[in-house]
Amino acid sequence: MKTIIEPFRIKMTEPIKMTTRDERVRLLDEAKHNVFLLKSESVMIDLLTDSGTGAMSSEQWSAMMRGDESYAGSPSWLRFEASVKNITGFKHIFPTHQGRAAEHILARALVKPGVLIPNNSHFDTTRANMEVAGAEARNLLTDEGMDLALNHPFKGNMDIARLEATIKEVGVERIPFAMITVTNNAGGGQPVSLENIKATKALLKKYNIPLIMDACRFAENAYFIQQREAGQKHRSLMDIAREMFSYADGCTMSAKKDGMVNIGGFLCCNNDDWAEQFRSLLILTEGFPTYGGLAGRDLEAIAVGLNEALDDDYQAYRNATVRYMAQKLDAMGVPIVKPAGGHAVFVDAAKFLPHLSPADLPGIGLVNALYIEGGIRSVELGSLMFGKGDAPAPHELVRLAFPRRVYTQSHFDYVVEVMQEVYAKRHEIGAHRIEKQAKFLRHFTAELSPAKSITAKAVA
Ligand code: F0G
Repeated sequence: MKTIIEPFRIKMTEPIKMTTRDERVRLLDEAKHNVFLLKSESVMIDLLTDSGTGAMSSEQWSAMMRGDESYAGSPSWLRFEASVKNITGFKHIFPTHQGRAAEHILARALVKPGVLIPNNSHFDTTRANMEVAGAEARNLLTDEGMDLALNHPFKGNMDIARLEATIKEVGVERIPFAMITVTNNAGGGQPVSLENIKATKALLKKYNIPLIMDACRFAENAYFIQQREAGQKHRSLMDIAREMFSYADGCTMSAKKDGMVNIGGFLCCNNDDWAEQFRSLLILTEGFPTYGGLAGRDLEAIAVGLNEALDDDYQAYRNATVRYMAQKLDAMGVPIVKPAGGHAVFVDAAKFLPHLSPADLPGIGLVNALYIEGGIRSVELGSLMFGKGDAPAPHELVRLAFPRRVYTQSHFDYVVEVMQEVYAKRHEIGAHRIEKQAKFLRHFTAELSPAKSITAKAVA
């Protein structure tokens, strides 16, 4: 098979500032050993997130030029609404400034203290929005999804039996809606099968519980269904996406992912009573219903971007980039979450650095080594991000997220070379300690320092 090439040409460039290892040692020291505190110009390859970091197409930029900034009833809104309706089929569409604003409105309207919101895995902002409104946010991922190294086609699937057990345990009246996240970011960008979405809906229908889809990466999920699920190969991504949405009663969306834009989101539903409540809250917190939290030109870019995300050639290329890096790392012996996800490669830092304990923040050790050796910025999803006090997180992961249409194959080859160097020197990577931390979401602003010694590991 020939190389899967980037299905686009580049007509605008952005310089990458080259730095030396010595400069990066100093820059990281100035940033208190926390890559969130680096200036982005100090980073050569930025894999911190795939959210809002993509490149827009010439069609999107053209559409932006005709953005109509009327407060009410703009043609840009009508094009946005038509595009979202065409793909999702939902009756009511509300534009928001990003995904978490949609989650906030959903939670504020429908969540009351004491309720429970099931999900395959809540993303952190989803969990926070549900919890602030008084809900218990419960993850019901299948056992396969919990096993980092297991190769399984749909590790994002909801555990249907546990969902039913949860409904019986807490009672229908305490579950205003359930959610399903496609793909499952928190679990490694793993997809949910069409069969699983259908089965989730069928079970919820029996109990009259509505289903809300967290649709941020709906197009990547549709691609995995097309490629991996029996009987789906012949279908278009649009057709599969429409079927996915058909099982949901509404959705929250961060267009910063599969909307292929730098900012934006939406909230959708079919229920007229919900729509009434969402509309009032939208006006209160985001803006008039025909622009929400967005400019007319943003609405135009999303209207086009959602369709570009469903292009077969784009998804084949996108998936190939993630798979390419995953295969190279795997061949080198780097422990990664398998199979590769839709938007990122996740490295198991606990296995990568077996001499470090969770208290030594192995994920931070790896993140910082990748920055010093190669100017690469990744993100820790381990005990700094998810640990509570001294209690460690369940996993010590490092995410290399892929911005959409931004980096080429040589950039990824470079990342692989840097990883190889870091892997060869992994025994030299030491512990980090927290010097200063905020009460909530400490990973964003924590000040860290390299420790002189590591925590003694209990020998099993
Ligand atoms: N849901 C999922 C599954 C997400 O991955 C995100 C964002 C959101 C909701 C919230 O959307 O950022 O537009 O408010 N994920 C980003 C990330 C931040 O890096 O994975 P938002």
